[in-house]
Amino acid sequence: MAFCSLPSLSITVWLLLFADRLLHCYCIPQNYSSMFSFGDSLTDTGNLLASGCTSFPSISRYPYGMTYFRRPTGRCSDGRLIVDFIAEEFGLPMLPPYLAHRGNFQQGLNFAVAGATALDAAFFHEIGIGHVLWTNRSLSAQLSWFEELKPLLCNTTKECDDYFGKALFLVGEC
Ligand SMILES: *[C@@H]1O[C@H](CO)[C@@H](O)[C@H](O)[C@H]1NC(C)=O
Ligand SMILES: *[C@@H]1O[C@H](CO)[C@@H](O)[C@H](O)[C@H]1NC(C)=O
Ligand SMILES: *[C@@H]1O[C@H](CO)[C@@H](O)[C@H](O)[C@H]1NC(C)=O
Repeated sequence: MAFCSLPSLSITVWLLLFADRLLHCYCIPQNYSSMFSFGDSLTDTGNLLASGCTSFPSISRYPYGMTYFRRPTGRCSDGRLIVDFIAEEFGLPMLPPYLAHRGNFQQGLNFAVAGATALDAAFFHEIGIGHVLWTNRSLSAQLSWFEELKPLLCNTTKECDDYFGKALFLVGEC
């Protein structure tokens, strides 16, 4: 679980350096036509906010969003996230949050939710720390959202191979 706070300068610099290496050294040049993202506050572009989260209301106010979007978007940042820079690099639109998207999502969607855990909420309730969770939209919940939407993107094996063969998937904290 990541904390919804502004990253320190050193972490920001490290992340930017890492993104640069990721995009320029480790990725085979590829023309992705869509991108799908799963994760937590480092990647959430508005799902926690759209889910009506009241336990962490400050992301709905400045300084969140003030330096780039000029409005709070639900990102846990004053500006863009790494996932936004990756989208820009590949000429894709910034990923709309699944819980607030309207209309076409052929070019991708973001399922990440700030505070999401890799393990299901039930695990944390079982060991008696369920009350610290901000959200129960764990990785498996995010994958279920994706599974539900998949038929709107492709049906046959060939269609899906063609479509997802050109899709970039981000899972976790990037
Ligand atoms: C990438 O795909 C877009 C849309 O299909 C196309 O316009 C563009 O020329 C392609 N770029 C490369 C480098 O293949
Ligand atoms: C998560 O919580 C919401 C309401 O708080 C509930 O409606 C939903 O069913 C829960 N989802 C899961 C996967 O537990
Ligand atoms: C897949 O099938 C469903 C149900 O028949 C349909 O609504 C949907 O538009 C189809 N998806 C594509 C990408 O053609």
